[in-house]
Amino acid sequence: MASITETTVFTTPTDFDAEASDPKIEKTPPRLSNRSKGSQAAAAFMEKFEDLLNRQYSAQNPDGLVNFGVAENTLMQAELKDYFNSHLDLQDLDFTYGDSCAGSKRLFDAVIRLLNRYFKPLKPVLHEHLICGAGQSAILDQLTHLLCDDGEGILVANPFYSGFINDISGRAGCHMVGIDVETSDPSCPSNLAAFDAYMASNPPIRPRAVILCNPNNPLGFNYPRETLLAYCEFAQKWDLHLLCDEIYALSQFANKEKESDGTKRDFVSMLSVDVARETGCDPARVHVLYGMSKDFGANGLRLGVLVTQHNPQLRRTLLGISLLIKVSSPADALWSALLNDDKMLEKVVTTNQQRLAETVVYCQDFFRTQGVPIIQPEAAHFIFIDLRSFLRQTDDSDKKLVTAAEQEADLFYSFINNGVYVASGKGRGDRLNLSDVQPYL
Ligand SMILES: Cc1ncc(COP(=O)(O)O)c(C=O)c1O
Repeated sequence: MASITETTVFTTPTDFDAEASDPKIEKTPPRLSNRSKGSQAAAAFMEKFEDLLNRQYSAQNPDGLVNFGVAENTLMQAELKDYFNSHLDLQDLDFTYGDSCAGSKRLFDAVIRLLNRYFKPLKPVLHEHLICGAGQSAILDQLTHLLCDDGEGILVANPFYSGFINDISGRAGCHMVGIDVETSDPSCPSNLAAFDAYMASNPPIRPRAVILCNPNNPLGFNYPRETLLAYCEFAQKWDLHLLCDEIYALSQFANKEKESDGTKRDFVSMLSVDVARETGCDPARVHVLYGMSKDFGANGLRLGVLVTQHNPQLRRTLLGISLLIKVSSPADALWSALLNDDKMLEKVVTTNQQRLAETVVYCQDFFRTQGVPIIQPEAAHFIFIDLRSFLRQTDDSDKKLVTAAEQEADLFYSFINNGVYVASGKGRGDRLNLSDVQPYL
């Protein structure tokens, strides 16, 4: 009778080992789809991003990189951590698929309260105008998939939040087309002339949509109402969808410099605009995106919202694939609790704004002392600094740095080699995340 030891798997080669040593089996990995090309390109970015996250400075990693480049808002983290840790109240429904794959009725009600309070919607927002998902990026991915065919494009003013590139190319296979606008005032309506010129040039990449990032990441300003109207007219003229990214809507703050030179503006949401009457644009083209990541300092909870009030066909089509990005019920329950708690909501919004304003004052002083020009911000989480006078013509090994891109890469890596990560503004300056700047400058 065979003993156990004679038949044990430990002495027999595993299937895997047998395959590895079989010369008939090809060494190339099994095929992935052609569609996966976009994701493979996105992976290169994600690997670098992961590497950065793992090399970050912390008390446990004192030699790590100081991360000024990623938009993570830690200013309210202590309060939010306490609140969320003590307010998770899951119901039976939270253990099921709930009452909607596009979120939950609880979350829809809570988001509508938030929008009514801060965005001044012209038309009441209803459940059937909303799609919630696991972060705004996930919603943009789905939207791109539904609005654009492979190889088509989405327009945006330069400089723009670089994460859009992965969001629209990674799966949907589309291209971000950055349009250079006037640098003296990148918020003014006349900037749409550059977009018109691009469209009139019979471009090789066919655009299907345009993104308006208001408040602007990375430049930190609110667009004036006239520019919102100009974007609507532009979308109508060229048969495009208009995607209004308002993820920094509540991150507004005082800035004495802007107040004293008369350039300070309030945030105006596209939801408050009478698109059809004021611009002649079909409101079915206009969609607003919002999320929990920035104003509520919760990138990790993954919660985003699409508000589309005049396009039931798009909303319904998105509903069809909404389970793929469904918000996890703990995140849904936590954000709903906060949005329904008027006192805490007010405290989170106003304290965040005060802390952002204090950080701006700190940065203004710091950069004034260092002789570094900055673009004065009034919203979002960044300060755009002009380091062009620090660009070098020759690197440490005497190699000539001819193009602007080479010189910027040289500066970028000098920062990295000295333990600091700063997001590059591609020829216009560099972006510093305001939220946790103070301890490090
Ligand atoms: C302008 C803008 N939109 C969208 C996002 C992504 O948001 P989410 O974390 O909800 O995917 C970011 C994140 O930095 C952002 O800055």
